[in-house]
Amino acid sequence: MTHKIAPSILSADFANLQRDIEMINQSEADWFHVDIMDGVFVPNISFGFPVMASLQKHAKKPLDVHLMIVEPDRYITRFADYGTHLLSVHIEACPHLHRSIQAIKQAGMKAGVAINPHTSIQQLEDVLGDIDLVCLMSVNPGFGGQSFIQNTYRKIEKLNNMKRQHNLNFEIEIDGGVTLQNYKQLIAVGATVLVAGNTVFNSENPSVTISSIKQ
Ligand code: DX5
Ligand code: ZN
Repeated sequence: MTHKIAPSILSADFANLQRDIEMINQSEADWFHVDIMDGVFVPNISFGFPVMASLQKHAKKPLDVHLMIVEPDRYITRFADYGTHLLSVHIEACPHLHRSIQAIKQAGMKAGVAINPHTSIQQLEDVLGDIDLVCLMSVNPGFGGQSFIQNTYRKIEKLNNMKRQHNLNFEIEIDGGVTLQNYKQLIAVGATVLVAGNTVFNSENPSVTISSIKQ
């Protein structure tokens, strides 16, 4: 099965958002990766519902929304209303993760769980059968354009082993520091979705860069 590419609109030009959304629509990208940051869970604030409304209106591919916010349960149904296809919450922000996952599904979305670089994937073991995607953070969340944390390779391998052992089907998404230099190795060890912000939007031809990562 071929891997998916999810360009992160955090690195888009917000003065030309419609243009950048159209670029993704026309490209070989599979999903839109949408980073929501609250300035509390992470030391940065990105954007919220007005941008979700623009995406809902113009995006022609599924919205993969990554919540980097505290108390995400408060907003699950709002994100469903804005056409979110897959909603990921952070394990570190969810004291009742199983309940959050059920709420996401009940709202009609696919459910993802994101985990920070310091968090062990063992902590996911008891929910792996309930989710559609694990978002492995390969940078500390909060900013685009950071360097890839090498230990992520080991985490992908471990997670992929757990996936095989239990005969499960969830996507393994890698988020942060994905480049034209490391994407092949990430896929080789088990990644199935690659998020790319800086690599796509700061390249000379974003659409061609997306195609390259898709090869
Ligand atoms: C980081 C975000 C990422 C970010 C990736 O907190 O979750 O999705 O946009 O950006 P790059 O690809 O630039 O590292
Ligand atoms: Zn993200």
